[in-house]
Amino acid sequence: MKISFCCTGTPPEPWLQALRAALPQAQVELWSPGAAAADYAVVWAPPQRFFDEQAQLKAIFTIGAGVDGLLKLQLPAQAALVRLEDAGMARQMAEYVSCAVLRHFREFDAYEDQARSGEWLQRRVQRHADFPVGVLGLGVLGARVAQTMAQWGFPVHGWSRTAKVLQGVQGHAGAEQLQEFLAATRILVCLLPLTPQTQGILSHETLSRLRSGAYVINVARGAHLVDADLIALLDSGHLAGATLDVFRTEPLPPEHAFWTHPKIRVTPHISARTLRQESVAQIAQKLQALERAEGVAGLVNLTQGY
Ligand code: NAP
Ligand code: GLV
Repeated sequence: MKISFCCTGTPPEPWLQALRAALPQAQVELWSPGAAAADYAVVWAPPQRFFDEQAQLKAIFTIGAGVDGLLKLQLPAQAALVRLEDAGMARQMAEYVSCAVLRHFREFDAYEDQARSGEWLQRRVQRHADFPVGVLGLGVLGARVAQTMAQWGFPVHGWSRTAKVLQGVQGHAGAEQLQEFLAATRILVCLLPLTPQTQGILSHETLSRLRSGAYVINVARGAHLVDADLIALLDSGHLAGATLDVFRTEPLPPEHAFWTHPKIRVTPHISARTLRQESVAQIAQKLQALERAEGVAGLVNLTQGY
């Protein structure tokens, strides 16, 4: 069995070693143009030429959770596309969102400002009940984040395509229940996949329906957000602030207004990193299942786009 590794921006050697150790029966090689035909591929942001040359692939494993970038390419029609499910990302996402939510809820920015000017002032206690968290997307990552927010004691709402039952989370499903979800939400977390249906979903139309003084956390993809609409709603005072980990152009260009806006916190797409050991273990287990002609989870539905 041959596996071709083609992950742009990823130092290949540790991955090749880990894949060879996990799949000793396989021949694992770093792809270069003109390389021999492989059975399986492990990819991140590969060039179209990779798929043009490797048209015989049985399955493609991506080392990320989101597949929006891959779906812009022409993939071999017969190849199954398998994404990472959690593989250590859900815990990281729950940590990141907890930090952003608690920083806002406990007013750490205000206390830091006070400390800078030497002001000793105990602000009014805030109640969890007044900060309902709404999570867009209740998949592998969104469900973990929603349940973590419930454990912190916040009322939690979740929105998904199909109805979900999660302990401590009030579910809303489909376009027809989006408005009630938004109206109930004071801290909005986006964990949707980027698809034609979700592109630009964080717009004036939706964000203006959040409760006044709402806070926005986007940890999914930059193209979910209409940048100018966010800035307008922050400047009008309807929104209190935003924490953004993902951007339409990455790295975020130096001249972008998000860098310097006083109500926006920016991180460089680090909310949930790919962890090599966990990812290789998951890929190896799924690849072996496919070899035995067994079903695997995490197969991307190409029609739905996630
Ligand atoms: P997932 O398991 O596929 O979950 C996607 C969720 O979104 C599902 O609950 C799905 O509903 C819902 N959804 C999809 N389209 C919808 C629509 N049109 N209307 C309403 N709900 C919709 O994905 P995941 O593993 O949780 O990952 C989510 C995204 O996080 C990824 O696609 C990626 O873009 C992003 N991500 C970001 C980072 C980072 O570091 N910033 C890291 C990893 C992932 P159903 O359950 O009903 O299908
Ligand atoms: C990262 O953004 C991922 O999709 O895994």
